[in-house]
Amino acid sequence: MTQKVAVITGGATGIGRSTAMLLASKGIKVVISGRREAAGQKAVEEIRARGGDAAFIAVDVDREAHVRRLIEFAVEKFGRLDLAVNNAGISNETKTIGDSDPAKFQAMLQTNVMGVYLCMKYEIQEMLKNGGGSIVNLASIAGLNGIPYAGPYAATKHAVVGLTKSGALDYATQNIRINAVAPGAIKTDIIAGSISQGQYDEATISGMHPMVRMGDPEEIARGIAWLLSDEASFVTGHVLNIDGGFQAK
Ligand SMILES: NC(=O)c1ccc[n+]([C@@H]2O[C@H](COP(=O)([O-])OP(=O)(O)OC[C@H]3O[C@@H](n4cnc5c(N)ncnc54)[C@H](O)[C@@H]3O)[C@@H](O)[C@H]2O)c1
Repeated sequence: MTQKVAVITGGATGIGRSTAMLLASKGIKVVISGRREAAGQKAVEEIRARGGDAAFIAVDVDREAHVRRLIEFAVEKFGRLDLAVNNAGISNETKTIGDSDPAKFQAMLQTNVMGVYLCMKYEIQEMLKNGGGSIVNLASIAGLNGIPYAGPYAATKHAVVGLTKSGALDYATQNIRINAVAPGAIKTDIIAGSISQGQYDEATISGMHPMVRMGDPEEIARGIAWLLSDEASFVTGHVLNIDGGFQAK
């Protein structure tokens, strides 16, 4: 995959950061985007220190103009766009639907659904200019199952699966593969935030997975890297479970 260029949204932390590190270690030029400049620049410096090539741009995926700028930036910086990981996402409430706040659901819809849609739209337009590309979206076990106290979040992740499968069909003959990963609970800030709201503790979350543990961000990054790569050349519209057996129940 050397000389390929990838964009990663929300790439300064968690799964996005691990994915950026892994792709850079394979010789891919990585554009890390996110809202937090300091964390993004730190990730870029770490990649450069290991001999990789990366750049950061501050992007809020809620805003269409920012997403357009992200793609322009990748092309200005590295000349093309081949790969994209639409990873930016939020989970801002752990409540039953009856107790949940519509404004929080609206915010999740904007980031998790509209943000992924906008990224796909402009990534695809650019990839078509190169003759193809590969996109991986971050779905979730909550994109394939109901999760108590997470109805609005689950709705947004089901929507990501819909965008992934439909996009895969739209571009199947134009050499753009579009897939998703569906992680189980992974040790990142999002899960820490959910635990802090009190509905779930770490042991309960681990116990939801047959392997009785949470995953590490690197375990998701490896699946993403495979789906992006030519090793997965006949894979499109697929949702890859990386969930310690959750989906097997
Ligand atoms: N951690 C888990 O258990 C888990 C499980 C399944 C799916 N996911 C999904 O994986 C993705 C990455 O999450 P994570 O677990 O690494 O947590 P994380 O909070 O570390 O990563 C999310 C990143 O997205 C960024 N972000 C949020 N809103 C944004 C916006 N509007 N514009 C740009 N960036 C924005 C955040 O700043 C952060 O860097 C998310 O889409 C999440 O829903 C996580």
